[in-house]
Amino acid sequence: MSKRHTITAALPYTNGPIHIGHMAGVYVPADIYARYLRLKGNEVLFICGSDEHGVAISLKAKKDGITPKEVIDKYHGIIDKAFNDFGISFDYYGRTSSKVHHETAQEFFKAIHDKDGFETETTEQLYDAKEDQFLADRYVVGTCPKCQNPKAYGDQCESCGSSLNANDLINPKSAISGETPSLKTTTHWYLPLDRYEAFLRSWIIEGNQKDWKPNVLGQVKSWLDEGLKPRAVTRDLSWGIPVPVDGGENKVLYVWFDAPIGYISATKEWAAKDGKDWAPYWQDENTELVHFIGKDNIVFHCIIFPAVLKAMGSYILPKNVPANEFLNLEGQKLSTSKNWAVWLHEYLEDFPDKQDVLRYVLTANAPETKDNDFTWHDFQTRNNSELVAIFGNFINRVMLLMKKYYNSVVPDPNEYSTVDTESLETIAAAPLKIGSLIEQYKFRAACQEMIQLARLGNKYLADEEPWKLIKTNPERVATIMHTAMQLAAGLAVLSEPFLPHTAKKLRDMLQLDKAVCWDSLQDEMPVKSNHTLGNTSLLFEKIENEAIATQLEKLNF
Ligand code: 2FM
Ligand code: ZN
Repeated sequence: MSKRHTITAALPYTNGPIHIGHMAGVYVPADIYARYLRLKGNEVLFICGSDEHGVAISLKAKKDGITPKEVIDKYHGIIDKAFNDFGISFDYYGRTSSKVHHETAQEFFKAIHDKDGFETETTEQLYDAKEDQFLADRYVVGTCPKCQNPKAYGDQCESCGSSLNANDLINPKSAISGETPSLKTTTHWYLPLDRYEAFLRSWIIEGNQKDWKPNVLGQVKSWLDEGLKPRAVTRDLSWGIPVPVDGGENKVLYVWFDAPIGYISATKEWAAKDGKDWAPYWQDENTELVHFIGKDNIVFHCIIFPAVLKAMGSYILPKNVPANEFLNLEGQKLSTSKNWAVWLHEYLEDFPDKQDVLRYVLTANAPETKDNDFTWHDFQTRNNSELVAIFGNFINRVMLLMKKYYNSVVPDPNEYSTVDTESLETIAAAPLKIGSLIEQYKFRAACQEMIQLARLGNKYLADEEPWKLIKTNPERVATIMHTAMQLAAGLAVLSEPFLPHTAKKLRDMLQLDKAVCWDSLQDEMPVKSNHTLGNTSLLFEKIENEAIATQLEKLNF
């Protein structure tokens, strides 16, 4: 049955471009999910946008000697283009600097404020006297009290993943001047998370235990077990959304208060553009909301944002938050500051038209249950031994044999053998099998099932050997090729969520009817007799050792 789905992918900070870690953790799985649900005929809204506030942006501006506005404009453009190039099929890609977003975030703050949903507290906070600046979040660095990492930020330690308070850092230093900060009194608004503890426990722990990933539930449980404390949702900064109530002068909303609201503002902008109503996507109980994020965002999407939505009263809560672990590169943590990354825009300069190869490798090796490693050697092997040797090879053989024997017109089948029937049954069963894995957020396994069909196709041709029978038993060859065509067409449909560029090319080569879709594969054969195929070309090309050596040299590896 068709259903309404709101799918969000974490809003990337616009302080740098996008790398493979972002893609593997969030955007590729979210895109597979969105494409699959659309192919199943659901109403899907897939939303993302640039996260343009926060200290990370101000610091980058300072470092580059430009304004924060120049920073966000530059990276918003680069990121938006990279998503487009890789076929990440957002229905709308917004930005949190937009007027609609500023208004929406301020409406949320005011609404909660007016219901007495915040507490104010006056505390002493770290202050850089030299720069006349409070040191919120990333403006302060120091030693993590939990793991002793000497480079922890005031809001988070990237080494152990702990969410921190700037005042807890050992030996804090200003990230702006390097000075040891002093303490200065300031007043802020706090979201009293302790008031939401019982609600969160019953909603997540008792309600969804079976569907949520163990890594997500584990983190949420440990937060709840430690006891939730009020969390400041305002900051003494100049870059951000002004606090819209008395006393809010010179203060802005905390970036993690406004960013998730960005999903809603982006929905409003998308709806306004298309003359639609945004509200059902966030307020109708029949809508299924799923947030795709990396593991460092779990607390914000499973505890803080749900508390904000609950405080607002009329919003739905996520059905699931399938957070991924992290991807490493050649055995080391990806790092923007150390330039230890494969940047998407640079990848495309070296491998134009190989977007699907990267999507495939990142899916096949996705950090779904534990941190995983991307290596250029694995990239080459998966391309050459799986995409070229299995998927591409099968399609190429079918297309060439069809041209040679039948001038690319699909022949009538004759009597099916057991192996033909089994192959046809495998195709008919594949949509449910792959779909069920996607619905459980098991994208690696789903992708392997898809490749398994191509493997089956190769084996089928190798075992049936139509080239040995074409003179002696042309009736049998017609049945073999008719069956092989069904496998090729099945792949064109079922590969779409994973390899959208390839699927499109394959559909064109096969001249597949628009009516052939995910569900129709279960009931009828996708290609009929007398159907004429289009022109053939190679779907994948071998990647040579030199190309891999160049990438490793770039990393100084
Ligand atoms: O961690 C990050 O990169 C954040 N910019 C993610 C924000 S997700 C959402 F809530 F906006
Ligand atoms: Zn730490």
